[in-house]
Amino acid sequence: MAEVIVSAFVQVLLKKSTSQILRQYGKMWGSTVYRQLKKLESTLSTIQAVLQDAEEKQVKNEALKKWLADLKDAAYDTEDILDEFNYEVLRQRAEIRDRMKRKVWDFFSFRNPIIFRITMMNKIKEIVERLDNIAAERSKFHLTEIGPVDRQYLSTERPETHSFVKESNIIGREEDKKKIVESLISRAGRSDVSVLPILGIGGLGKTTLAQLVYNEITVAEHFQQRIWVCVSENFDIKNIVKTIIESATQRKYELSDMDSLQRTLREVLGGKRFLLVLDDVWNPWEELKELLTAGAEGSCVIVTTRSTTVVSSIIGTLDAYELKPLSDDECWSLFERNAFSKGDAEKSADLIHIGKAIVEKCGGLPLAAKMLGRLMRTKREVREWRSVMESKIWKLNDDKILPSLRLSYNHLPCHVKQCFAYCAIFPKDYEIDKEMLIQLWKANGFIPSDLEEDMELKGQEIFYELLSRSFFQDMIIHKQTFKMHDLIHDLAQSIIGNECHILAKPQSISNTAVRHLSIT
Ligand SMILES: Nc1ncnc2c1ncn2[C@@H]1O[C@H](COP(=O)(O)OP(=O)(O)OP(=O)(O)O)[C@@H](O)[C@H]1O
Ligand SMILES: [Mg+2]
Repeated sequence: MAEVIVSAFVQVLLKKSTSQILRQYGKMWGSTVYRQLKKLESTLSTIQAVLQDAEEKQVKNEALKKWLADLKDAAYDTEDILDEFNYEVLRQRAEIRDRMKRKVWDFFSFRNPIIFRITMMNKIKEIVERLDNIAAERSKFHLTEIGPVDRQYLSTERPETHSFVKESNIIGREEDKKKIVESLISRAGRSDVSVLPILGIGGLGKTTLAQLVYNEITVAEHFQQRIWVCVSENFDIKNIVKTIIESATQRKYELSDMDSLQRTLREVLGGKRFLLVLDDVWNPWEELKELLTAGAEGSCVIVTTRSTTVVSSIIGTLDAYELKPLSDDECWSLFERNAFSKGDAEKSADLIHIGKAIVEKCGGLPLAAKMLGRLMRTKREVREWRSVMESKIWKLNDDKILPSLRLSYNHLPCHVKQCFAYCAIFPKDYEIDKEMLIQLWKANGFIPSDLEEDMELKGQEIFYELLSRSFFQDMIIHKQTFKMHDLIHDLAQSIIGNECHILAKPQSISNTAVRHLSIT
């Protein structure tokens, strides 16, 4: 079962249940409704107090995870009931305003208040009982109470804006770049297309290295045509050919039958020495290779992949370039650059010592070093650094999610956690529109604020918090779009589980846990 995050949601519910206006109207709906609303608040507060601890411990405790899942279910139902109350408040207020305007008393236009009161009384009683039972079960898990505002989970630093997310932050890889560039250029006289796979585990820097090569001046001069295609898990030959054509011609291409695609591809590549980067390939792709023979002598394809099967399926070509992890020194430099600002007065010997121990746990993975650096930037106390170094998460045997990423996630403020996990709704490698995302957060009630203006501001803050902590990357300033790294998307997916579903083609959804749906 995926991880369950519910703390942020309960916090939002608590806010909703304690709103002044609901209280006021609650009294009008009778003492039972009012009492139940008060009871709801106290039950939610009791549960909220142990949620942070519960969410952290669930990774190793299935029963606790189930408890959180039951709570989440009940929380969704509670939200529906509170929304019904709020709707009634708004409806009554609008009606009163309308009547004042018209100065006409129309008693019969009111929804029957007695029926509303009885229905709602039963609904709220039932949900409070359900939540009470859940609250009572918490004692089984020996959870520690942590106040709702736990300092260590809030950034001590205001999130920076996007300017630091520059790709000039690359550490090392000069030697790798040089070797690959030389190898590509040495193929100049070859009549067949040369394929160079870059192989390595996720987050090692394959895409980054391919980008360095692609943008290298000698490469730009050597190849008449350079094309970058992000392939990803859904290998679809038609789409790839279409993207190649569009990328080479810088125009949209409408036709989609294979025959026209293949003819246009030949025309586009015809007689030119091209460099094609197929980034993130998961499946063998011989079929495509056959279509790439129209280029001039010396044309090359770089394939980045995590899969040795993909590499072995490429016949008669250059040896795979097996990318190595960063050295300890490089990894430290990357971490240091992200964890401290220039001339940071707090860069004490203690922090450096602990930081180096943390970096050792990154195994030379730049993604891990970067994320952890960004996490530690929000902490300044030696005890906080030590607590990250000694976290039990390092020992978890979860081969899907890197401990460094899970740790960074665990240290997010709880409402930010929810906003992040929701991003699993977008397909992998999707260019996400920042403003659209903030609107979606707002619409889902993930931003803890009642005022529209304040909500907008908080939405922006959450966005920059996630960007500054490297959960988001590749921000394109003029378009205000960004992406999530593959492994970060896996993390979001593992947290949100079945609640988010991406529908790629017309199909029915059998899973009843789906709460958010995107259609691609
Ligand atoms: N040498 C480096 N210096 C600084 N940052 C780096 C370096 N290499 C990679 N990164 C950063 O680490 C992250 C992961 O890198 P990248 O996306 O290139 O990995 P990858 O091997 O392509 O992963 P995947 O297999 O998931 O596609 C990126 O955010 C990238 O900016
Ligand atoms: Mg990649």
